[in-house]
Order: sequence, then C-alpha cells, then structure tokens
Amino acid sequence: MKAHFPGCTVRIAMVAAAAVACAWPILSQADSDTDIEAGRALFMQKGCFECHGIFGQGSIATGPALAPRVIPLPAMEAYVRDPQGQMPVFSEKILSNDEIAKIHAYLASLPPSQPADSIALLNNGTSPASAPGNSSSTSRIANPAAHGASVYAANCAACHGQAGEGGVGPALIGISSRYRTADIEARIREPSGIMPRLYPGPLNAQDLQDVVRYVASLK
Ligand code: HEC
Ligand code: HEC
Repeated sequence: MKAHFPGCTVRIAMVAAAAVACAWPILSQADSDTDIEAGRALFMQKGCFECHGIFGQGSIATGPALAPRVIPLPAMEAYVRDPQGQMPVFSEKILSNDEIAKIHAYLASLPPSQPADSIALLNNGTSPASAPGNSSSTSRIANPAAHGASVYAANCAACHGQAGEGGVGPALIGISSRYRTADIEARIREPSGIMPRLYPGPLNAQDLQDVVRYVASLK
C-alpha cells in the first residue's frame, strides 16, 4: 500500500525523504513509517476525519475523539464493523482490516498533546485535550496572529502543508497574490473538492477570521 498525495508519493525506500518533503510536523522520525502515512491518507480518504477531526480530536457535533487515547486495534475493528449509534458501517469491502490497522497506527502515532496545544493562550485554562478550532469559546484572543497560526496547524496543515507548501490540498503560499482576503474566506466557507467544511464547526467565527489572515500572510 502506498500513500499517494499529489506530489508526494511515499515508498518504503523514500520514507526519510518523504518525511522531509511532506514536512509532516507531528510525526517523529522514528514513527514516520509507511503504515502511519498510509493510515493518515486512509483516515482522510475514507472520511473518518469528517466526523472525528483530522487529528482524531473529535467534535462535539459529529463524533468522539479517537486520539490521543486510542482504543485497542481489535476493539476498533469490531466497532467500525458494527457501530452502535450514528456512525456509518464500514464493511470489509469498503475498508479492509489491513486498512483499519493503518488508521490505528496513524492515530496511535499522534502525540498526547498537539503542538498547537502548547500555546497556552489558546487553552484559556481549559483542558489541553480541546484542540483549537474545536472550542466554541468566544473568549478574547490575546494574540490573533498566533491564534491564526494555531488554528491553521490544527485544521489545515495536514492537507496544505505545515508552511502552506501544499500536499493533499494546493499550496497556499503566496495566495494573496491570487485572491483577496474575502475570496480566501469564501473558499473556507464554501469548500470544493475534498476540502472539508470546517466552518461554523469546528472553526468558530474568531478562528475563521484569524486563519484567513494567517493564510493571506503566507509567503
Ligand atoms: C458520519 C460520521 C462518522 C464517520 C464518517 C466515522 N465515524 Fe466513527 N463514530 C462516529 C460517531 C457519531 C461515533 C460515536 C458512536 C456512534 O454514534 O456510533 C463514532 C465512534 C467511533 C469509534 C468508537 C469510539 C469509542 O471510543 O468507542 C471508533 C473506533 C470509530 N468511530 C472509528 C472510525 C473510523 C476508523 C472511521 C473511518 C473509517 C470512522 N469512525 C468514520 C461518527 C463517524
Ligand atoms: C482534508 C484536506 C483539507 C483540509 C483539512 C483543508 N483543506 Fe483547503 N483545500 C483542500 C483541497 C483538496 C483544496 C482544493 C479544492 C478543489 O480542488 O476544489 C483546498 C482548497 C483550499 C483553498 C483554495 C486554494 C486555491 O488555490 O484555490 C483555500 C484558501 C484553502 N483550501 C484553505 C484551507 C484552510 C484555511 C484550511 C483550514 C481551516 C483548509 N483549507 C483545510 C484540502 C483541504
């Protein structure tokens, strides 16, 4: 199984290079094996992220957190085959056990706290488990630029690259030479293709405003 992204094909022999080329910030060198990369791709392709969040952080409206406390692989397999509530069934035709194992490897590779969580002002004293962009908090943001960067890291970087260099989604570096700020916002409000709808949840109005400014500033 290869993890295939436009401009970013991961083969076993290329893992080290790919880890750099994809600039995937979350994985340590030791963890960046093909299973984790493939699992991350599957988590997107199969739509798990739409309900469980890109980093498995969950969303109040759509699905529980799957990481950083990952349930054991046999339990995950059993659940995906026979979910109890709102979650759709994924049969073996749609998602093989091997693919579930890769998704499990991806979720298990995520660190206990995401980099964005280390920015104290985002958490406003709330649990570090609540990822930025996932909070409905409307409390004053002390530093909108840092907030925008963190919203980006948590919600956009997986597809658009850590520095906006592109990946699953197009490069955003230099986007302000092509789009006005209002157009960038429109692309987020009304996404096309596989880009997920992230507003009005998990992003709130403040998150949206700050991430638009951040994206517009990418050079
Ligand atoms: C349409 C939304 C949706 C999609 C897509 C989705 N899930 Fe879920 N998932 C849920 C919801 C909601 C729950 C909570 C229980 C329920 O309602 O089934 C859940 C629960 C789970 C659980 C059990 C969590 C626990 O702690 O018990 C696992 C594991 C899981 N999902 C894995 C996955 C995987 C893997 C994928 C992709 C192959 C996926 N889900 C896709 C909505 C979704
Ligand atoms: C699951 C992957 C994914 C995530 C997450 C994602 N995007 Fe996208 N994004 C895409 C894809 C794919 C496209 C191209 C859509 C198309 O081809 O129609 C896109 C397009 C865009 C565009 C238009 C770019 C252009 O050149 O036309 C902007 C702006 C954008 N995304 C910003 C964001 C921001 C900001 C976030 C986070 C809040 C985000 N995206 C999250 C995948 C993603």
